[in-house]
Amino acid sequence: EKGGFASFMEKEIFDQPAAVADTLLGRSDAYGHLTLDELRISPEELASVTKIVVLACGTSAYAGSVAKYAIENWCRIPVEVELSHEFRYRDPIVDSNTLVVSISQSGETMDTLMAVRYAKEQGAKILSICNTNGSTIPRESDAVLYTHAGPEIAVASTKAFLAQITATYLLGLYLAQLRGNLFTGQIKDILADLGKIPAKIQEILDRAEEIKSLARSMQDTESVLFLGRHVGYPVAMEGALKLKEIAYIHAEGFAAGELKHGPIALIDEGKPVFVVVPSPRGRDSLHSKVVSNIQEVRARGAKTLVIAENGDEAVREFAEFLFYVPETPTLLMPLLATVPLQLFACELATVKGLDVDQPRNLAKSVTVE
Ligand code: M6R
Repeated sequence: EKGGFASFMEKEIFDQPAAVADTLLGRSDAYGHLTLDELRISPEELASVTKIVVLACGTSAYAGSVAKYAIENWCRIPVEVELSHEFRYRDPIVDSNTLVVSISQSGETMDTLMAVRYAKEQGAKILSICNTNGSTIPRESDAVLYTHAGPEIAVASTKAFLAQITATYLLGLYLAQLRGNLFTGQIKDILADLGKIPAKIQEILDRAEEIKSLARSMQDTESVLFLGRHVGYPVAMEGALKLKEIAYIHAEGFAAGELKHGPIALIDEGKPVFVVVPSPRGRDSLHSKVVSNIQEVRARGAKTLVIAENGDEAVREFAEFLFYVPETPTLLMPLLATVPLQLFACELATVKGLDVDQPRNLAKSVTVE
């Protein structure tokens, strides 16, 4: 069943080109027009939304954080991302003009289900992004956008994450289309970039050995830091979560801009730090800020492990290890930059002889609050 892979997790990482392609399939035409037929909220209602609140936990919440950057950029609607359990037990402000987007692979996460029920009681419209047909959260929602990643067996979420991000992009583009925030040509271009993502993920997978051998050389590592800015920030958080979950290594992700506000004190000789670098072709200031962050940690002795875009020469001299991902617009970059971090965690846990698919203390779906 594992198709020759050492674990379901590894197989699912390699399933990702298909997970993204299948989630995109049939949802737009050649003219850049999106049709999300399965949504049961009317286009008029969706067009009148004044605020989006994303509710999710764990990896799914990081997909929500990526969505915030894309949806706010494309649709100019404010997007708040909140952990379901935090939302539920304060006094959140939602009303009938709020669109709540829940993201859940299983559709059974109790924290998210309770938050969705609460938001519904307050009059919000609920749209769920889910990977499991007919599960509880989509059944209780006004609308559902299914991710087509296929069943995910490993406790650590991988292909569902990329499929969730893909689904949020489709939702963002659909809202932009309904509300007239983007021209059809712009939507068509972004869809074309999305369409190229599966082959680009495959290119990364074909070079898996580069990152796997790094992982094998780091078996005795006790702590790894991950930093990123903009969409690279949730990627860093996800990279850290994967490492904690399956390799039981202390890992922390943070926003690169926070370094000087505290975390830089953690850097000492040999401390491994992954840095997710945005495209040098995107906003210039964003790229150069992250390059300075690499220099800052490197100057303090960090072992810099850099994920950057093909052709980014500026990072080379500061990177102890450098993994290039194919070019793509910055907003779509998480679909590529996450993959080497997943491979890293998976290989490290494998060489440590751990149960990659069923890590200690964790369950695939958390059906208690
Ligand atoms: O099924 P869900 O997407 O609602 O699950 C949410 C989290 O429990 C889940 O993403 C968890 O963090 C994973 N173990 C991450 O790998």
